[in-house]
Amino acid sequence: MKIFIKKSKAYIGSLAVGILFVIFAGIIFFLYSIDFSPLILGVALVLYGRILRKIEKFPSYIDLSLLAAFAILISLLVAVHSKISAYGIPAIGFAILVTLLFDNLEFSLLFALFISFLGGSIDGANFNLGVSLFMGSLVAACISYRIRRRFQVIKAGILAGVVQFLIAFLMEREQSFFVLNNLDFNLFKICISNGFISSIVVLGLLPIFEYIFKVVTNISLLELSDFNHPLLRRLILEAPGTYQHSLVVANLSEAAAETINANSLLARVGAYYHDIGKMLKPNYFVENLVTYRDVHKDLKPSMSKLIIVNHVKEGVELAKKHRLNPKIVDFVTQHHGRSLVYYFYQKAKEHEPGAEHEEEYRYPGPRPQSKETAIVLLADTIEALSRTLDEPTPSRIEEMVRDVVKKRFMEGELDETNLTLKDLEKITQSFIRTLCAIFHTRINYPKEESREKSK
Ligand SMILES: [Fe+2]
Ligand SMILES: [Fe+2]
Repeated sequence: MKIFIKKSKAYIGSLAVGILFVIFAGIIFFLYSIDFSPLILGVALVLYGRILRKIEKFPSYIDLSLLAAFAILISLLVAVHSKISAYGIPAIGFAILVTLLFDNLEFSLLFALFISFLGGSIDGANFNLGVSLFMGSLVAACISYRIRRRFQVIKAGILAGVVQFLIAFLMEREQSFFVLNNLDFNLFKICISNGFISSIVVLGLLPIFEYIFKVVTNISLLELSDFNHPLLRRLILEAPGTYQHSLVVANLSEAAAETINANSLLARVGAYYHDIGKMLKPNYFVENLVTYRDVHKDLKPSMSKLIIVNHVKEGVELAKKHRLNPKIVDFVTQHHGRSLVYYFYQKAKEHEPGAEHEEEYRYPGPRPQSKETAIVLLADTIEALSRTLDEPTPSRIEEMVRDVVKKRFMEGELDETNLTLKDLEKITQSFIRTLCAIFHTRINYPKEESREKSK
């Protein structure tokens, strides 16, 4: 019930922001005598995306209002308050920005439609302008979808500028296509610089937008995946076993995310950082011990549990100290969900058979909230268990993977994500494939001695 009230409050709150935005935009449209069609179109597109199509990762009303207000202001500045032609309205820049931020092509196309319509309307219902802006931003969105490097953004901007020019050129043409005049060169210059400059501005402002909209783009993710990041460097030096574990979890997660069309780069980078909290007390985690010794032997089960569970809390503190993006911090907090620290729970039960311990021996959670964090939760357990397999044959690997996925599913750890059973099957198969690939290369070479004997 509480959750329901909380959710409906958030829903009503963001709806109120949406309505306020429509009033604000209405006043601006009235002041600048722009016709109201872009506003109506914008609202219709939001209703279509959020309610009718229920597009995944569709931004909240607050984010949408901010984005649209920004688009309206910039378009007005370019088209009304300066000497630049309306062809300089940075629809291309907005298409790239929205694609990079929200990683959803369908939403990018809806936004491109809105801003192009807005541009056309600001310039006195200029149909040609609207169409060329739309074609440019369409190309910009398609090229910049899931790109990972900065120079690709500029490339997308310039190419989209060329397309915007070609469409405008074809539509505005009155005389022969082969006779070029000064106006055509002017149009060319404006369209290309529109694509080029707006893509550079987007790149420059990207960290600010990531902060405002609480998202992480592929470009930042790639920077975070650099092993020279201070946190990863420390992990390599202070907890080498955890680092190796994180690498395998990252490989498992990336491949699995790919199969269900989730953000594989986010899953990989999230996996790199998921156990950073372990580097504060590395020797209490078995993977960091060069020779095995029971470091928990002299500790009470409750103390051992505290040390183990605290790696999540300490990881979050470390991440915040290094200003990691909140989307990466999610992997630190959610990678154990509300699961039980089973080994020490069993030990505690042996010490005090009658006592009720179960809740005390659980990780604090929350449970995974996204497909990517859910995949890392599964890959984390699977990697740890794969080390305990004596003879990792394909059938044993499959049995172990299916067991883990089934157990986590039955425990409700995956309940707060929107993974379907079909997704889970694809993830399971991907885990099996990756693990078999890891283990199949281990061949027992005959020893020198035995070779000599056989000679
Ligand atoms: Fe962990
Ligand atoms: Fe882990």
